[in-house]
Amino acid sequence: TILILDFGSQYTQLIARRVRELNVYCEIHPYNKIPELTPEIKGVILSGSPHSTLDHNAPDPDLSEIKGKLPLLGVCYGAQYLALKYGGVVEKSKHREYGRANLSSTDATSRLFKDVPVGSQVWMSHGDTIMELPENYKVEASTKDVRVAGYRIEGETTYGIQFHPEVYHSTDGMTLLKNFVIDIVGVSADWTPASFIEDTVGQLREKLGNDQVVLGLSGGVDSTVTAVLLSEAIGDRLHCIFVNNGLLRKDEFEQVLKQYEGMGLNVKGVDSSEQFLSQLAGQKDPEEKRKTIGRVFIEVFDEEAMNIEDVKWLAQGTIYPDVIESVSVNGPSATIKSHHNVGGLPDFMKLKVVEPMNTLFKDEVRRVGKELGIADELLGRHPFPGPGLAIRILGDITPEKVAILQEVDHIFVQGLKEHGLYDQVWQAGAILLPVQSVGVMGDERTYEQVVALRAVESTDGMTADWVHLPYTFLAEISNKIINRVKGVNRVVYDISSKPPATIEWE
Ligand code: XMP
Repeated sequence: TILILDFGSQYTQLIARRVRELNVYCEIHPYNKIPELTPEIKGVILSGSPHSTLDHNAPDPDLSEIKGKLPLLGVCYGAQYLALKYGGVVEKSKHREYGRANLSSTDATSRLFKDVPVGSQVWMSHGDTIMELPENYKVEASTKDVRVAGYRIEGETTYGIQFHPEVYHSTDGMTLLKNFVIDIVGVSADWTPASFIEDTVGQLREKLGNDQVVLGLSGGVDSTVTAVLLSEAIGDRLHCIFVNNGLLRKDEFEQVLKQYEGMGLNVKGVDSSEQFLSQLAGQKDPEEKRKTIGRVFIEVFDEEAMNIEDVKWLAQGTIYPDVIESVSVNGPSATIKSHHNVGGLPDFMKLKVVEPMNTLFKDEVRRVGKELGIADELLGRHPFPGPGLAIRILGDITPEKVAILQEVDHIFVQGLKEHGLYDQVWQAGAILLPVQSVGVMGDERTYEQVVALRAVESTDGMTADWVHLPYTFLAEISNKIINRVKGVNRVVYDISSKPPATIEWE
């Protein structure tokens, strides 16, 4: 294991993902909550930080058990910290240094910079510069503007680098990380999807024994991979529940249920469409709609879960980004837990929780899913919001509107698949607008609904841009929709990025 101590940099998770790409397991912990240094921890990386080492409240961890005792790599803030703390000089840069730079020299004997050529592009992002190093430190790399771009401490396996090896634009960043993790720390690259599955299945068997476990399936990647992993471990003692809230895509409930059954999962499909739609009737406010859907889901799931005889555990598809404790540089912040239900917790929330994927990043979930033999079709599905089409029907929801939107969405998504565009898009869907417009069909004037199409590219949904779908494709889809879906006479394409817009319209 590599321990990554986080000082709050936006790139910390990227460091972790790069280390994992080397097939080495790593964990992120806040700099002020260093975990017990078990023998499994073989090396440590200090992240960057939005703070300056010169701030009076700059993060100042206790590294007495780490520095000089384990291989240590400081990145950006981490490098400046290790220089300043042990007698070096750090100053505010005259010019802030952001973006690309090139290494102008490297130490040919360096283990860290082995196979990193002079001229290699590195990505800088710092406002301070190391001006002087403590005595036993040795410069290993420089750029034109930054003399101390990389250093080592003599007599230790401690290194510092001013640039960010984890970002894509540092072209030899992976080589450098590999030099540190594999050669200097010396861990073996054996953390693979297969080894993860083998270890996790073993641990789950031990932990769950003969207990019964319940899991809510959504059709999404995370819950599906969780289900297959658990079912490898405990077979039919895993009880999956797949709820139809009446707001899924066209035929999705039946199709996904069939797929799940074909995969040998012990799954119960519960069609509660009417219950959801009747509770939603007349509600226009997006947040109110979300709350209603959440509440009804909990009611339905609670009843189903509690019908399982002797159920002891609730399984969840939580993944690593949801559980990484974030750093609050100004001291620990109070976490306020929101309660779903003022009338007390639903019964299923009193079950013990098992989250077998809470150490995995999203791309690793997909790799594990592939290794488990899950079809690409399921693993490559676009994300779909929990409240489903409810937040894509602006204003109040009726069964007729749901039916119209399902048809429109189906034509759009099928079209993307048929034209080989589906996998180039991160998320796509259609929105039913609360607007009618005038049209003409044959000799008759029409006054019907407008739908918007949205297709975005993104990596995590936090930022997104609209996809430049070919005009010929948009023309074909627009035609099909207007000709085939009764009640729609106009199609528009959403060309807004996030920010300032969001992906969903509500
Ligand atoms: P926005 O609209 O905030 O969406 O740009 C970002 C991502 O989150 C999804 N989304 C939701 N997912 N419940 C969910 O489970 C919700 O209420 C919800 N609202 C938005 C959205 O589909 C996109 O992937």
